[in-house]
Formats: sequence, structure tokens, C-alpha cells
Amino acid sequence: MNMNQIVLASRPKGIPQVTDFRIEPAELRSIKTDEVLLKPLFFSVDPYMRGRMNEAKSYIHAFQIDKPIEGNALARVIESNSVRFNPGDVVMGMLPWSEMSVVSDKELVKVDASQVPLSYFLSILGMNGLTAYIGLMHICKPLAGETVVVSGAAGAVGLAVGQIAKIQGCRVIGITGSDDKVKLLVDKYGFDEAINYKTTTYMSNAIGTVCTDGVDIYFDNVGGEISDAVLNNLNFQARIAICGQISIYNSTSVPVGPRLQPRLLAKSAMMRGFLVNNFKSEFPDAIRNITKWMYEGKLNYSETTIHGFDKLPVAFLGLFNGDNVGKMIVKM
Ligand SMILES: NC(=O)c1ccc[n+]([C@@H]2O[C@H](COP(=O)([O-])OP(=O)(O)OC[C@H]3O[C@@H](n4cnc5c(N)ncnc54)[C@H](OP(=O)(O)O)[C@@H]3O)[C@@H](O)[C@H]2O)c1
Repeated sequence: MNMNQIVLASRPKGIPQVTDFRIEPAELRSIKTDEVLLKPLFFSVDPYMRGRMNEAKSYIHAFQIDKPIEGNALARVIESNSVRFNPGDVVMGMLPWSEMSVVSDKELVKVDASQVPLSYFLSILGMNGLTAYIGLMHICKPLAGETVVVSGAAGAVGLAVGQIAKIQGCRVIGITGSDDKVKLLVDKYGFDEAINYKTTTYMSNAIGTVCTDGVDIYFDNVGGEISDAVLNNLNFQARIAICGQISIYNSTSVPVGPRLQPRLLAKSAMMRGFLVNNFKSEFPDAIRNITKWMYEGKLNYSETTIHGFDKLPVAFLGLFNGDNVGKMIVKM
């Protein structure tokens, strides 16, 4: 049987282009024992995938030239040689960017989408919601009345961070890339203030102006100059969670910034990087709380859905242009 797949055509230098991807026909092999035939329903596109386009070794292996890109996905089981899954089941796992795939049952989990929209398992009830919860609650440990700044605030992680911080009784400032997103964050998602970093010349002053009592917590999704500006406004014993550094994912050389250690020292501040997958034991609690807040109407979520398998590269590239509010999802 023939189907299309999307492979890595070339390793990008700087900002990735659509030409770094190639759609091509491929033959589907037959399924063996403990394998399933899957038809993808939704793919998640995520900023960390940019790192996998480089050759360099990281915490997850690099994509290979002429081989399919892979990403987190939801799929329907079409045929099964596995005792764990039946035809018709919906499963989640890392899948190749192909219209159909034959995969081992080992890394797949079954999802029950009878209560919530299916795509939530790739967003607020998946990696993004978990990252927001773990980074905020376990790394930053917010206290009521504290001021929380989150960058990438209108994105998949940031949108949840800001609202969870509000639930904890904090004052929340979002940093984002357009006036429309500023308005959304304040009017729809309950942020106290938001700053458009693309139109603000002196970010450090702008943050100081809205954070009248200083910054107690900084949830860093972007790094670079935005983070330098936030760190100028830290309070005594501030906590900083390094979640992502999207502003430098496309850099071709390591950018030079201010030395941070004297600031952290002077403020007795704590800065900690984290990878959500190292906190698996915390996932059940996180999901329980996120689900409860959603049912209570305290946590609202948004997805930007792009339609069509062939749009996967465009959707992924859109993450670097700020095309999404909340989670960027591709629906097959
Ligand atoms: N540590 C972990 O375990 C973990 C897990 C998941 C994600 N992450 C990281 O968390 C961060 C957010 O991920 P996400 O899935 O929520 O992505 P996302 O925020 O939904 O999408 C990326 C957003 O980043 C902003 N952006 C793009 N280029 C930028 C730049 N040069 N400077 C500042 N902002 C820029 C854009 O919004 P604007 O319109 O605001 O520019 C864009 O919408 C990423 O860095 C990701 O790698 C880490």
C-alpha cells in the first residue's frame, strides 16, 4: 500500500524553510507481531523539534536526512497484531510524519476521549499542560500575592502557566509578540498585564513599570534579550524556571549576553532548567488538578488548528513567527 510521508530534506542553517522538508510517496509494510497499523488524526508540532533538525546530539536524537520527521500524535488503530490494542482504539505516541504507519505497540498509550476534545491530549492534558504545571508548581513554587512573569505567554505552555499562577493568587504579567495577543491574554485569559516585546523598545523599563513590586517568579520560555530584561527586575529570593529558549533555537552562533551570576547572587535567586519528562511521577497529580480547574472554568485553553497532512511543515515553521495562540495542532 502506498502513502505519503514527510522527510527531512536538509539541515537548516538559521530559520528553517519549507524546502528543508520533502513530501514523498512511500510503501507501507505489513504489520508483524506486537505491531499496529495506525491512521494519524492529529499531530503536535513543537519548538523542541527544531533542535532535532540539527546534527548535534541533544537529550533526544536528531532527525535523519531523507527519513521521516517524527512527532507526538494521536492516531486510530486500523489493524492490530497487538494484545494491547483493538481496531478503532485511539492511541497517542511518537509517530512518523506519514499518512499511515506501522509501529510497535510498546511506546503507545490508549486515550479515552469521551470526556474532553481529543486534541487536548496533545496540549493542555499532554506535554504542554504538564510542562506549565511542573515548571510553575514544582520549580517556582508560587505563593499568593507574588508577581509572576511568563514569556511566550500566549503559547501552548505560557497560556497555561499564566492561568495556573492566577489560580495560585499571583499577579501575572505575560510577554508576547503582538497587540492582539496582549489583548487576549488580559481580556480572555485573566492576565493582569501583558507586554508586546516586538513593539517595546526598553523591555527592562517596561517590565519594571508593570511589576511595581518586582519579579518573584520568571517562567522562561524564550531566553535571549527578553529574559535579560526580566532578570533586571528580580526580587530577593526570586525563582526562575528555564523551560525553553525559542529565541535562540535558530541562532547560528551562541549569542553573548550579560553575566547572570552577580544578579542571581545579589538577589539570592534560584534559576533551574527542567525537562518535563523527568517528572513523570508528578503527572497524575498535575492532570488531576488541570482537569479540575478546567471543569471549574478557572483554566481556559486555546488551540490553533491547521488542517491537512501536507501543512505539517508550515505549521511547525509558524511557531517561529508566532502564528499560534495556545497549542499549534495539525488535524489530518
Ligand atoms: N522544558 C520542557 O520540558 C519543555 C516542554 C515543552 C516545551 N518547552 C519549551 O517551552 C517553550 C514554549 O513551548 P510551546 O510549546 O508553548 O511553544 P509555543 O509558545 O506554543 O510556540 C512558540 C511561540 O514562541 C514565540 N516565539 C517565537 N519566536 C520567538 C522569539 N524569537 N522570541 C520570543 N518569542 C518567540 C511565538 O509567540 P510570540 O507571538 O509571542 O512571539 C510562538 O507562538 C519552547 O521554548 C519549548 O521548547 C519545554
